[in-house]
Amino acid sequence: VVLVLDFGGQYNQLIARRVREAHVYSEMISYKTSVEEIRARQPKGIIFSGGPASVNQANAPKVDPEIYNLGIPILGICYGMQLMAQQLGGTVEHPEASEYGNAILSVDDATGLWEGLSGERPCWMSHGDSLKTLPEGFKVAAHTGHTPVAAMMDVGRHFYGVQFHPEVKHTPDGQAILEKFLYDICGCVGDWTMESFIELQIAEIQAKVGKGHVLCALSGGVDSSVAAALVHRAIGNQLTCVFVDHGFMRKNEAEQVKKIFTEQFQLNLVFVDVHERFMQKLEGVSDPEAKRKAIGNEFIRVFEVEALKLGKVDFLVQGTLYPDIVESGTETAETIKSHHNVGGLPDDIEFELIEPLRMLFKDEVRELGIQLGMSEEIVWRQPFPGPGLAIRILGEVTREKLDILREADAIILEEIRRSGMYRDLWQSFAVLPSIKSVGVMGDGRTYEYPIILRAVTSEDAMTADWARLPYELLQSISSRIVNEVQGVNRVVYDITSKPPGTIEWE
Ligand code: XMP
Repeated sequence: VVLVLDFGGQYNQLIARRVREAHVYSEMISYKTSVEEIRARQPKGIIFSGGPASVNQANAPKVDPEIYNLGIPILGICYGMQLMAQQLGGTVEHPEASEYGNAILSVDDATGLWEGLSGERPCWMSHGDSLKTLPEGFKVAAHTGHTPVAAMMDVGRHFYGVQFHPEVKHTPDGQAILEKFLYDICGCVGDWTMESFIELQIAEIQAKVGKGHVLCALSGGVDSSVAAALVHRAIGNQLTCVFVDHGFMRKNEAEQVKKIFTEQFQLNLVFVDVHERFMQKLEGVSDPEAKRKAIGNEFIRVFEVEALKLGKVDFLVQGTLYPDIVESGTETAETIKSHHNVGGLPDDIEFELIEPLRMLFKDEVRELGIQLGMSEEIVWRQPFPGPGLAIRILGEVTREKLDILREADAIILEEIRRSGMYRDLWQSFAVLPSIKSVGVMGDGRTYEYPIILRAVTSEDAMTADWARLPYELLQSISSRIVNEVQGVNRVVYDITSKPPGTIEWE
């Protein structure tokens, strides 16, 4: 393993991932991790990440200097290099001009990590502070026009620092430089694969769980499905999954989840069909927030009852991904997030968390799912909100409206899949407003609902753009919905980005 110490920089999540892309297993851990713990993990190399602080600040994040005595190669990136320099006796200053963006890196000393890399190449810079004096034993490896020490090294002790960011795509040779560090300096072999990740996780889960009982709330989404499949492979029937069918899933979705997990994975699945109960709870409720709250509360109640029925539960599986942890702040993130995800289960149900995906990114989770034998249909599923179709029916939810929406939504997904655009879209779905409009069909007047088509592209759902769907695709979606879905006589396309719109309509 190569450990990445997290000092909070914006590109940090990429570092561990680039290392894994080089087929070396990597995890990102807090900079506060004790040296004993780091030593115990026997890493082949350590990488200090970038970070927003200045090493000269009073409360700047620092590592225990004992780390420099472990005899393990270290690569410091940006803040990580400045920290290494300062802790080993160099100095860092805040020059008048910062350096942001593209720069040309000139190698001054092509030895150690830089062997074979002489000459000039583009790199990506993003720093306010710069190195002023080198620590003893170090020499300059490279410079840029603005930064005299763009890379430093102590070849004997295998300590390297780079001011630029090798992990971002704007540094074209960044991956090659990282790989040189991993293979040549740390002696990594580069034989890590998703298969070895599965083996490692299985061993870890088995050791942690022992003979304990494990519970997982299965939503049918990618993350909880892959997490459940992985944990199931590790401990088999010690895992029980609970799937709460609130009745607001997409067409055939609940049955499909049931089939996959009971037939293919032969997993203990408690399938709770409570759609009547949820419909009752939503009677007369038309305010979006009230709807969300009613569904959320009811969900917890049902899940709680099922959990209690199972007797003692020792562990709860969550499909938390690395970006979830990063978004809620690395320090205390795990506890904050876990509460959120289970929707605030009561305190008297006590369990430890198992989060086997916490080090992975979404596309890595998809690859893992495929390796575990899951179908592309599950693994590439677009995100779906917890309250489901209920928040895509504007105003009060009725059975009639649910049927209309479910059919229209199925047609949209079918057509989008057929067009080959499914994976390029963050989400594509139908919304049913509570208005009707006049139309003509055959020789008769109609007065029916419109369907709103919403299709967006996005990286992370924080911002989104409406998808430029081809006219032919819009045409086939529109004519199929109007012809095949009873109660709909018009289709409109939502051309609002986020912001100012949100992706969902409620
Ligand atoms: P908005 O509508 O806020 O949605 O732009 C951003 C993303 O979040 C999804 N979403 C939810 N996911 N529970 C979820 O698990 C929810 O209550 C929920 N509400 C919105 C939405 O589908 C989009 O991907």
